Parts: sequence; structure tokens; C-alpha cells
Amino acid sequence: MLILSIDTSCDETSVAVTDGVTVLSNVLWSQASLHAEFGGVFPSLAKRAHEEHIEWVIKKALGTSKKAIEDMDAIAVTIGPGLAIALEVGINKAKELAKKYNKTLIAVNHIEGHLLSPLAVSKNSQPTTHNQLLFPALSLVASGKHTDLIYAEKIGSYKIIAHTVDDAVGEALDKAARMLGFGYPGGAILEKIAKGGNLMRYSLPIPMIGRENQMEFSYSGLKTALYRLVENQKPLTKQKVADIAACFQDKAFTHIERLVKKALKSYKVKSFLFGGGVSSNVELRNRLRKICKENGIQLLVPYTKKLCTDNAGMIGIVAYFKHQRNECLNPDNIDVVDRVPRAKIDQLSPWQL
Ligand code: KG4
Ligand code: ZN
Repeated sequence: MLILSIDTSCDETSVAVTDGVTVLSNVLWSQASLHAEFGGVFPSLAKRAHEEHIEWVIKKALGTSKKAIEDMDAIAVTIGPGLAIALEVGINKAKELAKKYNKTLIAVNHIEGHLLSPLAVSKNSQPTTHNQLLFPALSLVASGKHTDLIYAEKIGSYKIIAHTVDDAVGEALDKAARMLGFGYPGGAILEKIAKGGNLMRYSLPIPMIGRENQMEFSYSGLKTALYRLVENQKPLTKQKVADIAACFQDKAFTHIERLVKKALKSYKVKSFLFGGGVSSNVELRNRLRKICKENGIQLLVPYTKKLCTDNAGMIGIVAYFKHQRNECLNPDNIDVVDRVPRAKIDQLSPWQL
């Protein structure tokens, strides 16, 4: 089952070719450097950059997979959540290809992509577990924009059980890195620096401590406490920075652990799926793996870091399962497909099938 997938939800132009859950190619063109001077993603710039690059990214994805567009069984595209005018570029291109080559179109939710990304396998290996046996599952999607704890009863059936009321965990890590004088992506930089730090040296609050019943993530209080600590500790030395980074990361992750433990008490699950940019973090992976072990379940993470950040490979995985459920649109029907910038994984538009 060959699928060409496109994701232009934010500042990465990505196209992938997948065969079932096997990723044949997953090409990313990152615009991050274009937006750096704005301190965030500048929408009209993102749209233009997607338009300028999408054609060669498609070509490269097909070339790497050694397949032609005519070989594809379907075209898949992210319809949200994301930046409206950026999403539009991918959607228009997907519609154009579906019409031109008479292919089925599959509309995919970006968060579902992160959620199912641990099910992807590389072309050099065989799928080992029967995917349906992993469900019901609990999933954490942690990125620069999302911190969602999701109960996945089965593939395609989801319930958000906790989300963030302010910053996403990746966003908090990025802001912390900036306060300590580092660039982007802050999460990866902090992870490295924290390794040489003493997390006991300073005291920072664990977010929402004692209020875990609310099942909410919140990082703004921890961020403010960090700001005060950094101001108090100036001038910063290399060791102070490492200790502060270790302490901040510890508190940010302890918050996640506490909610995950709470959720595992209420939901009987067979596995834990961890996706999104923050899922590359080895420390958080280890903490979650320990909790999973205590609960007798398996932790699954994407097989490569490329599948953790925004990418189209994960969109192809979702599309494969949607195709199996016949949740596709034929070429005469695809004009109903539209961007859904605030798409929720548990609420679908009627045409979203
Ligand atoms: O999924 P992603 O590429 O884009 C969004 O949808 O936001 O996630 C980016 C986020 C950034 O906040 C970045 O700091 C974080 O993922 N990140 C990490 C690591 N690598 C990237 N966070 C913690 N540890 C890492 N190793
Ligand atoms: Zn994402």
C-alpha cells in the first residue's frame, strides 16, 4: 500500500513515501533559520517558503523511495492543526496531484501523526508486533506546541485526557534555554547541558503538585520561577547553568511523570506510545520506560529522531490505517477537503471521515 504524504503544518516542508507502516523515504526541508530573526514562525514567510520548496521535496521523496507518483495508491495530507496558510499549500498540492493522477485522497490530523509515529518501521526491518495488540494504549504527544496525554482505545478512536493550559513542554524547554543564553531547539540543548548538572543544587517548583486530579499540564509557573532563579544567580557560570538546566528539566519531566502515573491508574492499557519533538529526549524516555515497566506495559518511541519532529512519514502511517478503514475521498470528492487549523484529534469535521 504505497502512499505519498505531505505535511506543511508549520515551518517544515515534508514529503514521505510509505508502504504500509514502512517508511521508504521521509524528506524534510526546514525553514527554521528563515524565522529565527522573528523569534517565532512568521506565517506569510512560511507559506511562501512551502510554495517555493514543495515541488523539489516531492521529487526527492519519490526519488529516494525509488517509486513514481503513478505507483502510489493514495495521496495523504495534513489538514490541521497548524498554521492556516501553511496548511493550505500542502492541501492544494495534494488535491492537484490526486486529481491529475486520479488518486484517492486521505486527510490526516497532525497530532494523530505524532501519536502513531512509534508504529513506523524502517525499510531495513520487519514490523514485529501486530499493531492492533498494542491497543488500548496511552499516548503522550509532546512537542513545541502540544503536550497531550491521549487515551487511544484503538487506532482512530481517541480521547484527550490531559492537555496544557499554557505553554507546551517543548515551548517551556525552548524558553528556558533562551533564558540561559542558548538557541533553538532548546530541548535538545538543555538535555545535553543538564547531563553535567546537579539537579539538587537549586529548588524549583514541580508544576501542579497536589493538583494532579485536575489532569492539566502547566508550565508558566515553572517558567516564572526559572526567570527569578536566573536573575538571582547572575553572573552565571558554566556550572551554575548546568545545574539550573538539570533542575528545570527534572521538574518539567516530573510533572509529566506524575500525570502519566495518575492516568495509568484510571486507564487499563497495553502499551504507551510517545511521540513529538520532545520524544527524542533520552532522560524522559528512560523515566517513562521505568513507569511502563512498573505497570507491565511496553513503551514505544519512533525508531528515528526524524520521526519525532514534524515530518510527513508519520502522516503516511496514519493514512495507511485510515485507508484500511476506507476513510478516504475519491478524486471527484476532494474539493470538500479544507484546512482545519484548530483540528482536535477527538473531534472530526463531517468530511474528515
Ligand atoms: O514536534 P516538533 O518538531 O515541532 C512542534 O510541533 O513543535 O517539536 C519541537 C520541540 C521543540 O520545543 C524542541 O525544543 C523539542 O521539540 N525537542 C526536544 C529535544 N529535541 C527537540 N526536547 C527535549 N529533548 C530533546 N532532545
Ligand atoms: Zn508537530
